[in-house]
Amino acid sequence: MKGESMEPSIVQPYRIKVTEPITLLSSGERSARLVQAGYNVFNLRAQDVYVDLLTDSGTGALSQEQWSAMMLGDESYAGSRSYERFRTAVDDIFGFRYVLPTHQGRAAENVLFSALVRPGHVIPNNMHFDTTRANVLANGGDPVDLPIDAAYEPRSLDPFKGNLDPAKLEELIAAVGVDRIPLIMLTITNNSAGGQPVSVANVREVSRIAHRHGLPLFIDACRFAENAFFIHEREPGYAEKTPLEIAREIFSLADGMTMSAKKDGLSNIGGIVAMNEPGVFEAARERLILMEGFPTYGGLAGRDLDSIAVGLREALDPAYLADRVGQVRYLGEGLKAAGVPIIEPIGGHAVYIDALALLPGFPQSAFPALAATNALYLEAGVRGVEIGGVMFAHEDESGSVVYPRLEMVRLAIPRRMYTRTHFDAVIEGGRAVARTADSLPGYRIVEGQGPLRHFVARFEIVLRR
Ligand code: F0G
Repeated sequence: MKGESMEPSIVQPYRIKVTEPITLLSSGERSARLVQAGYNVFNLRAQDVYVDLLTDSGTGALSQEQWSAMMLGDESYAGSRSYERFRTAVDDIFGFRYVLPTHQGRAAENVLFSALVRPGHVIPNNMHFDTTRANVLANGGDPVDLPIDAAYEPRSLDPFKGNLDPAKLEELIAAVGVDRIPLIMLTITNNSAGGQPVSVANVREVSRIAHRHGLPLFIDACRFAENAFFIHEREPGYAEKTPLEIAREIFSLADGMTMSAKKDGLSNIGGIVAMNEPGVFEAARERLILMEGFPTYGGLAGRDLDSIAVGLREALDPAYLADRVGQVRYLGEGLKAAGVPIIEPIGGHAVYIDALALLPGFPQSAFPALAATNALYLEAGVRGVEIGGVMFAHEDESGSVVYPRLEMVRLAIPRRMYTRTHFDAVIEGGRAVARTADSLPGYRIVEGQGPLRHFVARFEIVLRR
């Protein structure tokens, strides 16, 4: 890439200047903590975790440039210099006419959906993430996932497994009619399908379909820089383009975006909602003032806006991206070699363990991905997150439970935070879980309901056989 290598690399383009202590509890202590947590790692205290791979959201390390920019934070209520720096970065990368900061991604979703979505509406997406789905539902809409079939095949090596299936989109539009579809969404990368990228060709095709029907296309841009990395690596014609050029091309095809700046904004907090249409902007701005704050700070401190302004640019640095994706691949390849089946190709922000392959015959009603998540904490003090039946199982109209097609344990890697020593510990934990896979217990929910139950649920052990 213009003289700079973007091979996923072992060159770590930063070193450590500040440290944060972590400890590995004894096996007996971990076991006691998990019981206290109701067998839900969301209920663990962070200090009881050794390597915390619960999420890559807001958990990364800031750069010295971000910390120094934060010292320049302008905390004026209206029209701050921090907002101007934030706007300059956002405009330069995404290029939408109207921009509103929010306190995080789900607030951006709620501001947008409460302006656009009404009961009876249908929202197509390649795949909704949990909070996006919940925000559509909370505004009376029906979230519909339209991924390509390969998204559900853990060992399909499709290079753009995050793509939306254009034929399914056409079918849905024909079936429900344009009047019931206020917007089409595209999530890059597709988190729920394994952090898989969406190609420029797919964005172009979805954009063409949307515009032919007079519908706006919004991009959920959480991991747009990682998505650009994969396009550079895999899509014909993009090997010579920089991540910034790729990002600009992607967003030029859309009418708006939502984003959590806690991912590729490389910040601890923050979100963005942006669009071109003045009517949508006015409605969203009104919602923003009600729920978040004045339009030039949107629920953030001025220094947070400065952190995001710097972070968005750093996320597009080829050396950063090569290390970032290189770390995820190191962990994924290591787990695979240790006998832990994973979703492939390895995604951009996380390794996803394929729990149904790890635990063949384990009934979905006993939550296999939860069983594997808990086993990894017990073995190695590693906190992952269940992305399976606890998160996504729901009842259909007849009252029977519909389980998701994939049961996964997501090991999300915070940005610029851990080193190979930590990943090696995770790999050894994975090896131990694979060895004891036959004896893992199942679980039953005793507390927690609804589409967000996974955050708060408590469980008890059930014997599987
Ligand atoms: N969209 C996607 C694709 C996400 O992955 C997330 C968050 C959001 C929207 C919401 O952003 O957390 O700032 O409100 N995902 C995190 C995760 C929580 O762990 O994957 P938020």
